[in-house]
Amino acid sequence: MPTQPLVIAIDGPAGSGKSTVARKVAARMALHYVDSGASYRAVALKVLRAGLPAQQEDSIVALVEKLQIQFSGTEGQGPVLVDGEDVSGEIRAPEVTEVAARISRLPGVRKRLVALQRRSVPLEGVVMEGRDIGTKVFPDADLKIFLDASEEARARRRLQDNLDKGRETTLEQTRLEITRRDRLDSERKISPLVAAADAVKIDSTELSVDQVVDKIVSLVNERCAARLGNS
Ligand code: DC
Repeated sequence: MPTQPLVIAIDGPAGSGKSTVARKVAARMALHYVDSGASYRAVALKVLRAGLPAQQEDSIVALVEKLQIQFSGTEGQGPVLVDGEDVSGEIRAPEVTEVAARISRLPGVRKRLVALQRRSVPLEGVVMEGRDIGTKVFPDADLKIFLDASEEARARRRLQDNLDKGRETTLEQTRLEITRRDRLDSERKISPLVAAADAVKIDSTELSVDQVVDKIVSLVNERCAARLGNS
């Protein structure tokens, strides 16, 4: 058992498969799973409910300071709780996605959510996924992965996700949403989506989920052997 919790950071754009992959890696390695995007989505949901404009930073920061967000779970099973309410389904709605991308540009919001994410590491260790985990939240993570895939593959995967959830949409519409999200996430001034210099880049376009998971688990075993007590 390592003395400091093991931290595996997985970053990447929308539709790169990072949530599915991070969940499975966490289950295989008996680590906790944290979806940092859920914290931005939880704030976005509250902003929408309060009817606040997404650029009104002071009011949104005041709202964040009062919120109780719980967004981690063993093997990805934990619900996302906001002030005790299970909002796991509601935070995936398209309007929440849109507002989440906007409020994640606000420095005051990021500061507080990054602090929350840093506090969300249990002793067992964590696989945390997001946009800035390897660059900002845990620059000293034990292993950093930057997961990517072609725009076409990402749009097709996201379309399938949407259809599975009963959301009527088209490939073209999904592609447009993905491109817009990519632009918002990569062009923002603060903590833009970018691979950390020491991240291992994996292009999942031609790989199955299990192939990506196997690759990451091998990397964890190889690079973190001492930390896992395997050497
Ligand atoms: O991964 P996701 O789609 O659930 O993320 C929702 C939004 O939150 C996304 O537009 C970018 C933002 N986000 C972020 O800025 N930093 C993170 N670490 C995670 C998500």
